[in-house]
Amino acid sequence: MKTLREYIEDARKRKVAIGHFNISDLAGLGGIFEAARELELPVIIGVSEGEREAVGTKNAADLVRNLREQYDYPIFINADHTHSLEKIKEAVEAGFDAVLFDAGKLSLEENIEKTKEVVAWVRATRPEVLIEAELGYIGSSSTIMTEVPEGAAVNKEELTDPEVAARFVRETGVDLLAPAVGNLHGMFKNAPNPDLDIDRIAALRDTAEVPMVLHGGSGIKNGDFIAAIQNGISIVHINTEIRLAWRKGMERALAEKPEEVTPYKLLLDSKDEVRRVVAERMRLFNGME
Ligand code: G3H
Ligand code: ZN
Repeated sequence: MKTLREYIEDARKRKVAIGHFNISDLAGLGGIFEAARELELPVIIGVSEGEREAVGTKNAADLVRNLREQYDYPIFINADHTHSLEKIKEAVEAGFDAVLFDAGKLSLEENIEKTKEVVAWVRATRPEVLIEAELGYIGSSSTIMTEVPEGAAVNKEELTDPEVAARFVRETGVDLLAPAVGNLHGMFKNAPNPDLDIDRIAALRDTAEVPMVLHGGSGIKNGDFIAAIQNGISIVHINTEIRLAWRKGMERALAEKPEEVTPYKLLLDSKDEVRRVVAERMRLFNGME
């Protein structure tokens, strides 16, 4: 089986994107894995600091590694949005394939300094682990929004600057870059998320020279996804849409089986909704529609 680094390189060359989907439980993991296998596509499971508290850092790493080995299937795990070196260490030692060090809210100089520390430690400990960093702040909650999160980059001058990105990648040595290009974490209830700046994505691709990761995928318009992937995005993160799917499945199960008390019978509906949403997104990211 190819390494995650090779799958990303492959996606970059073919102008498709690998789906990165977050989980909080086994129903989510099962739904994502079924969708990936159905479409025969590599997939990345994301667990943020909060999600790792729910699932267990070592448990999450072991669950994904077990699936990879048992099914000989390219499923990988990323320590999503990690804010301290201490938490990065925990994930790397637990066996994660990739980590996202998120200092995107700090000043550029602080972000560079802290990211360099993380890169030095990871390279000295498990050099095969991929390191992603965030440059530009896009909000921090995978939830339903009523307004743009405070401090999030929305205007052109706040989006990630291509020259700054080049310097950031050169000085930190990260493998992957998550820029602010009009994307936001979370989704609006009754409206699509704002447009992505496709020209900015293309400019960043030309200067940053590492594969780029699009965060805040929930609520983005299909056409924007396609253009972003054509212009340099190699991984797309989706979380809020999965959380909504999980809840929709659970609400249906509770309504249809009001007397049911067996958790796995109720969770089957959540798993199925997650599978449906993930399959739809993966098809779009891989030009299969
Ligand atoms: O890292 C996670 C993603 O960026 C999720 O963003 O909840 O807007 O899909 P989303
Ligand atoms: Zn994110």
